[in-house]
Amino acid sequence: MDSIIVRGGRPLSGQIAIAGAKNAALTLMPATLLCEEPLTLTNAPRLSDIRTMTQLLQSLGVEVTAMQGGKVVAMSSHGLTSTRADYDIVRKMRASNLVLGPLLAREHQAIVSLPGGCAIGARPMDIHISALEALGAEIELKDGYLHAVARGGLKGAVVPLRFASVGATENVLMAATLAKGTTVIENAAREPEIVDLASCLRKMGAQIEGDGTSRIEIQGVDRLHGATHAVVTDRIELGTYMLAPVIAGGEVECLGGRLSLVESFVAKLQEAGIEVTETDLGLKVRCLGDRPKAVDVTTEPFPGFPTDLQAQMMAMLCFAQGTSVLEERIFENRFMHAPELMRMGARIDVHGGTATVHGVDKMKGAQVMATDLRASVSLILAGLAAEGETQVNRVYHLDRGYEHVEEKLGAVGAQIERIQGQ
Ligand code: EPZ
Repeated sequence: MDSIIVRGGRPLSGQIAIAGAKNAALTLMPATLLCEEPLTLTNAPRLSDIRTMTQLLQSLGVEVTAMQGGKVVAMSSHGLTSTRADYDIVRKMRASNLVLGPLLAREHQAIVSLPGGCAIGARPMDIHISALEALGAEIELKDGYLHAVARGGLKGAVVPLRFASVGATENVLMAATLAKGTTVIENAAREPEIVDLASCLRKMGAQIEGDGTSRIEIQGVDRLHGATHAVVTDRIELGTYMLAPVIAGGEVECLGGRLSLVESFVAKLQEAGIEVTETDLGLKVRCLGDRPKAVDVTTEPFPGFPTDLQAQMMAMLCFAQGTSVLEERIFENRFMHAPELMRMGARIDVHGGTATVHGVDKMKGAQVMATDLRASVSLILAGLAAEGETQVNRVYHLDRGYEHVEEKLGAVGAQIERIQGQ
């Protein structure tokens, strides 16, 4: 397993190009199952999760061709050979469950392994199941797999979600495009990745209105056709790299960044005394004082503060002047970066879903362990300002969601290198 070594103390300067959104690509790729004609994605991120989704789709009989080093992904589902998403793939990546809705819509059946829990929580699928049952699917859990059938195809319905689940919204949105009649999703997730999926589905001939709001209305159609779609910019990678100059000092311009993708996050940065400027090329970030100010943060569904930026924000607040309170309201166990940051000298009290961070004026490099995707990058961010050397182990978590971190940060002056694992 590879490790990443960061030596702190170097202010950053320059530009970082932000890639296409992992969490958009992971729902856009299964959309290919909805039609026999080719779907091509451009601006796709080059990540291990995309390779995992590629394997899954290929196991169903989809032809997937990666071009330009993975930035272009051409898919064709003219001849599916299976409707079974195997445990071995699904357990590695929960987003594999996003083939459930499209397979039900296209093939009227699907056998999808339950993902099982992961580091940040139990990750159940009850909201997906009840939503698809509202469209007429019959879903039964047998030997760890969801066995789903839609006799005579799916039928449009009103689908109230008990919680604005991103994945459940995506599964139902894709399924409803081919259901007979009208579907209304109530309390739908509003994330930019949902809007990106809806705009791609419209290019494929779907009739969708209200994406980006809590009420999405879909008129089912008989068939969809192929399309080409550019993946939206990754707002989580954007927010992550916006924090790098705040923690390390200096100024960085994140190319491709737009304020509209990170409004609640930027509001918190500005409250902490950080200057964010929207340029023609992206977002320029620098800290106005020598340290950011403490701020309180509560994670919520979009447009609230994103849970996927909580760990990175905690890394910044470790260095802030004053005490910050972080409330994690989306996942039940998403503070595993806290004990690792404490090994570097951070002062953090965790009680249930609340972490109180007492800012310190310096931290010390240490050997730390990555536990999940966003926790691992928060440790790298902290290493940018810690005295001495920080070694982040098990960085395979990192490679799931961040393209070439060491290259992107190295190019703006960070002292960072990857050590190949044994
Ligand atoms: C998506 O996961 C993202 N993943 C996550 O990003 C992100 O943290 C999450 O949305 C919230 O924004 C992808 O898009 C691939 P949810 P998803 O369904 O769809 C509970 C990252 O780091 N829930 O909105 O799985 C669930 O347990 C990843 O890139 C149910 O109880 O998130 C969680 O507590 C991590 N029953 C909460 O809702 C269900 O049926 C939010 O889950 C579904 C979800």
